[in-house]
Amino acid sequence: MTQTLEHEEVAVRSGRRSGLTLVVALHSRTLGPAVGGCRMRRYDSWYDGLADALRLSEAMTHKCAAAGLDFGGGKSVIVLDRDTDLTPALREAALADLGELIASFEGSYRTGPDIGTSPADMATLRRWTPYVFCLPEEHGGTGDSGIPTATGVFAALRAGARHVFGTGSLEGRTVVVSGYGSVGSRVAAGLAADGARVLVSDVEEGKRDAARRAGLEWVEPDKALGTSADVLVPAAVGGVLTPETAAGIDARLVVGPANNQLTDDRVADALAARGIIWIPDFVAGAGGVVYTLTREIEHLTHEEAVRRVEGIGDTVSRLLDTGTTPLHEAKNLVADRLSAALSVP
Ligand code: PHE
Repeated sequence: MTQTLEHEEVAVRSGRRSGLTLVVALHSRTLGPAVGGCRMRRYDSWYDGLADALRLSEAMTHKCAAAGLDFGGGKSVIVLDRDTDLTPALREAALADLGELIASFEGSYRTGPDIGTSPADMATLRRWTPYVFCLPEEHGGTGDSGIPTATGVFAALRAGARHVFGTGSLEGRTVVVSGYGSVGSRVAAGLAADGARVLVSDVEEGKRDAARRAGLEWVEPDKALGTSADVLVPAAVGGVLTPETAAGIDARLVVGPANNQLTDDRVADALAARGIIWIPDFVAGAGGVVYTLTREIEHLTHEEAVRRVEGIGDTVSRLLDTGTTPLHEAKNLVADRLSAALSVP
């Protein structure tokens, strides 16, 4: 963490109904209102939840900027203790507390689902503030953003595969998908349909059955990153690519939706030095926010919005066609957009 706050604004509040710690972090509104999902997760301390919100909101600035959206980056976190008993009543109280806090930003922060929250939770938040994306379709929203996020990951996967293997088809490739949640499970299904051999893992042992029913192989979570494969898809929480784990990766292409995969940008250089192509997470994982905003703000049709999501593949191809690393190129893209916006009189 830097000495000076790099974020525009951060709110930390103890929810008056739930007693849970709530965080809203607004990293940047240079390109427009800050957008980013609401994460509800167990942390060792509220401070870890705050740190996560800070990192995730910064990633949203990058995600929106690289995807060409006129939105900035934000994120909210509802911090659960390791032993919080998350009853439906507590969930509702926490969402009411957060909804009230989001409302106080009067539209300069807008939320959507993330790990631990669903379109149904968005409908609860909507009772407190209009600035909520991805409501269930029966409430007039576009629903689960995990579906278009998976579509975008797939477009990135194909572009990466074309570059590395000479063909965008994943047929016959071995792919490890680390994280069998809302996005990972859909990416895994798409890969299997493409004819890939798919190994999945999740920290929740309970997901094993669902994976088996889907005809996928299981690999223990602590083995997933080091499993020998053609492609590795990080699809769970962030911070998985450390200098140590990166040294053990045995895949030629790493591309997935988990936010903030790298503990440090130098991990991308270490992977590149070993000949491993890593596609920036904030590019590959933008499908959800691209689809949602183009439909709910720009009012594109479903087909038009899906085409925009598939454009992630073109972005990835462009990043790969340069001499440096995709991360370096993507960061330049982000910096150019932010400085162009700042130079407008
Ligand atoms: N959870 C999504 C992400 O990490 C954010 C999102 C926000 C998606 C708003 C849709 C709408 O990218």
